Amino acid sequence: MIMERRISENGNYVFGGADTVELAKEYGTPLYVVSEEIIKKKCKEIRENFLFKYKDVKAAYASKAFLNLAICKIIEREGLYLDVVSEGELYTAICADYPMEKIFFHGNNKSRCELELAISKDVGRIVVDNLYELEMVNDIGRKMKKKPKILYRITPGVESETHKYVVTGQRDSKFGIPLEKDIIFKALKLGMEYENVEVLGFHFHVGSQIFDNTSHVMATHRVMDLIREAKDTLGFITRELNTGGGYGIFYTEGDREKPISYFTDAIVEKVIEKCKEFDLPLPTIIIEPGRWIIGEAGITLYTIGSIKEIPGIRTYASVDGGMPDNPRPALYGSKYQALIANKADRDADKVVTIAGKCCETGDILIWDLKVPELESGDILAVLNTGAYNYSMANNYNKIPRPAVVLVNEGYCEEIVEREKYEDLISRYRIPNHLK
Ligand code: LLP
Repeated sequence: MIMERRISENGNYVFGGADTVELAKEYGTPLYVVSEEIIKKKCKEIRENFLFKYKDVKAAYASKAFLNLAICKIIEREGLYLDVVSEGELYTAICADYPMEKIFFHGNNKSRCELELAISKDVGRIVVDNLYELEMVNDIGRKMKKKPKILYRITPGVESETHKYVVTGQRDSKFGIPLEKDIIFKALKLGMEYENVEVLGFHFHVGSQIFDNTSHVMATHRVMDLIREAKDTLGFITRELNTGGGYGIFYTEGDREKPISYFTDAIVEKVIEKCKEFDLPLPTIIIEPGRWIIGEAGITLYTIGSIKEIPGIRTYASVDGGMPDNPRPALYGSKYQALIANKADRDADKVVTIAGKCCETGDILIWDLKVPELESGDILAVLNTGAYNYSMANNYNKIPRPAVVLVNEGYCEEIVEREKYEDLISRYRIPNHLK
């Protein structure tokens, strides 16, 4: 969905009620800007089309897409659960006082230390990825005299149409327990026998930035067959089914974003159909989108610096950020739309390539972007950068991470401070013999 583009009287791009050129002046660039209103709009859409529509369903926000204390607070108020995937994400949620019973703890190689923290805090669900982890969870549970509630992550064995780095449901995947009977039933039997875990059901996640619901439906179909067999062979009654996230959003033409119900209705209908067919009780159905909630809620502002025209070839316009604040184009060839924030009312009749400032040829944010006549000092707004930009940002070339500003009609506040050079070297130590 393309958000309506608002322009101020002086021709500046307005996002979340804030003049982006003013934001760039006040907070500096590069700058992540996040709209609270858009996050809330997305959560409302989830409530109206999923949570209020069906009985016994839950929605979690996949926090890996974008996580900090303020976001935890917004997501909690919106009534969503939280998916975390590491001790760092869990720690952030703890510091934000996120209700621990509303946490799903994922990860294909959780350490003992991470699991100990999660179990000591009574997180809602641990999504167990493998037998090694199952043993550890049971052992920690025994030592702490607790009985963590767990789901098994399964590999449904389905392919999805998306970038190969973000497909996860195929058989050849590092995630989850394979559906081979001798493996999955062994795991289930063990989990049922262990005294310090309570197995509630299953989880799958087929991949990210997916536009077609076929792989979600296919995976649901497979897991429902498993649920039936688990009941028939082991008497195991599945109480929960977490169907992951992965719903695609609009970045550029060709991205066919769908309403959330396109995915959720299809998943729920498949579960209901199979429960009727197999005479099974309906499990609680959970979804956990990340990108779909936060992607469109973020933009990144940059200042244009050098402009280099190579006659007959192309014009490069370089910005003051790049692959450190947005590694996605370099990593996945991701495409973005952008506009010149201080010339938002002008015709875009020139073509430039937006380069980052890193010492690396691959540090190109956008190839062949249509822009108005460009000058150094112009402000570039790259759209829909809310998901997996800040969360994947790094300090390559010792470039500090940008600040994050939260905007809402008439309100703006920094929710993440810009990193300082002192932060970058604060953990460096000089050994005595070099002093
Ligand atoms: N649940 C699980 C278990 C996941 O692994 C993920 C994403 C999600 C939910 C949320 O997926 P989403 O709704 O955001 O697509 N860095 C990549 C995306 C990696 C996604 C990893 N897992 C990118 O920038 O495209």
